[in-house]
Amino acid sequence: MARAGMPRKFVFVCINERPDEHPRPSCIARGSAELFEAFREETGQQGLVDVKVVASGCLEPCMVGPAVYVAPDDVWYGGVTREDVSRIVSEHLAEDRPVEFLRIGREEFELSPLAGRSDLPPGHIPPVG
Ligand code: FES
Repeated sequence: MARAGMPRKFVFVCINERPDEHPRPSCIARGSAELFEAFREETGQQGLVDVKVVASGCLEPCMVGPAVYVAPDDVWYGGVTREDVSRIVSEHLAEDRPVEFLRIGREEFELSPLAGRSDLPPGHIPPVG
């Protein structure tokens, strides 16, 4: 099958990396580089030439990474593992049925690595990067 023009879907896989001492985790430390390769392999094996897998910088829901975003569906996934990839590809990317148990919502974007700490001054804003 020839590659079409504009992709039908984009899959953004966060491969952001941070220093170990950074308060926010990074998706690459949770195995997202392997996820990125797995998405590329699985979409290729399933013949989804109209799906583009993109390595991304930080997508913001770092606390529940590895984070994956599917456009134009506006579907967010968190805590994705290598074992989840074939299911996302076959059910969501191929058949337009998002994998509900992996979805994350707006509230996951509000999570802070410093939540619950009482030693911080009021209004302290955690570093983001
Ligand atoms: S580091 Fe991956 S979402 Fe922020």
